[in-house]
Amino acid sequence: MKGDITFSIIKPNAVRTGKSGPILAMINEAGFEIAGMRMIKMTQEQAESFYEVHRERPFYRDLVDFMISGPVVVMILRHENAVDEFRKLIGATDPAKAEPGTIRKIFAVSVQMNAVHGSDSDENALREAGFFFSEIDRF
Ligand code: CMP
Repeated sequence: MKGDITFSIIKPNAVRTGKSGPILAMINEAGFEIAGMRMIKMTQEQAESFYEVHRERPFYRDLVDFMISGPVVVMILRHENAVDEFRKLIGATDPAKAEPGTIRKIFAVSVQMNAVHGSDSDENALREAGFFFSEIDRF
């Protein structure tokens, strides 16, 4: 059975330019329930560990530097089939390839500064949520 939880980050460029509100509105309008939410500034260690799977990629260092460049909004989102439904809402990683009307198509400025992160599997959703939330922060 598909899980009902996904994990998302509103990235520093989107927070810095005042897009958190409009992005949250789209998330709510699409029927996602916010089950946990905090604004944080990631440490280098947190960002390195969060993006561990990309460690060997050429963009890894820049990605870590970018993700610690300012505050981010981390969220646990609830919806039926949450991982797939949220990925549809945000669109492709590369905003040039994202469908019209998706969050990345509207708010991303590049592949790196693509406005939001969304988990790519149920397993990663739980792992990623566990990075920033304990049971008592979840509703
Ligand atoms: P995200 O969904 O947070 O997962 C990994 C991130 O790496 C991705 O969004 C992008 O921000 C970044 N990323 C992926 N591919 C590239 C790339 N080719 N060049 C730069 N950044 C990338």
